[in-house]
Amino acid sequence: MRTIMVLNAKGGCGKTTLATNLASYYAVQGYKVALVDFDEQKCSSDWLSMRPDDREEIIGITAEDGKASVPRGMDIVIMDVPAGLHHKVLNSFVAKVQSIIIPVLPSPIDIRACARFVQEMFAIKRIKDEKTRIAVVANRVRENTIIYHALENYLKKLRIPFIATLRDTQNYNRAAGRGLGIFELAPSLVAHDEEQWEPLLKWLRSKRSMPKG
Ligand SMILES: Nc1ncnc2c1ncn2[C@@H]1O[C@H](COP(=O)(O)OP(=O)(O)O)[C@@H](O)[C@H]1O
Ligand SMILES: [Mg+2]
Repeated sequence: MRTIMVLNAKGGCGKTTLATNLASYYAVQGYKVALVDFDEQKCSSDWLSMRPDDREEIIGITAEDGKASVPRGMDIVIMDVPAGLHHKVLNSFVAKVQSIIIPVLPSPIDIRACARFVQEMFAIKRIKDEKTRIAVVANRVRENTIIYHALENYLKKLRIPFIATLRDTQNYNRAAGRGLGIFELAPSLVAHDEEQWEPLLKWLRSKRSMPKG
């Protein structure tokens, strides 16, 4: 069973957007996908409740007190996690998964918050030992802006892989409003976005995203 979490202490950086799009991507690929919503705001559960019946099924799992029971036979488990996790709770979430994707927005506040969060992540033994692998994704990017270059420079210097840059586009809202991912919209509309997702998906397919040893 492949376990993937989208995590950042900062709110509004795209955790739910990435989690729901990952779930839709793998479902379209024919995998049995569970989407676990650990957030009390229940945004990914809301997304799933809008999903049309004729689309590939995604099993929604709401989690109470950080505990979720995933049914047997799932190929892929995607976990959407609330903002603001630290210390012991953060540790316990890290221990649940093989791979963690950290979305970061190009804004001074988000870059600073990310720096602190990454430091906190590196203090966790499982991360140091590469038992849980982490990577960052720049999200809601408008290319050729000064702040994006600042984010890019910062992320490239980090000790963790900087695997993808996703642009700011209404396509994510278009899809989300219908319980879909961008991979389920008209190909001509999302060709550029699909291209931007490819390195992220490639990382998830690679050994670099799997526990060492
Ligand atoms: N790449 C993107 N382009 C445009 N809007 C985005 C993008 N990523 C996220 N959003 C929007 O930003 C808002 C916050 O995203 P969300 O995924 O809910 O963040 P989080 O779960 O981290 O709080 C949502 O309204 C979402 O639709
Ligand atoms: Mg969310």
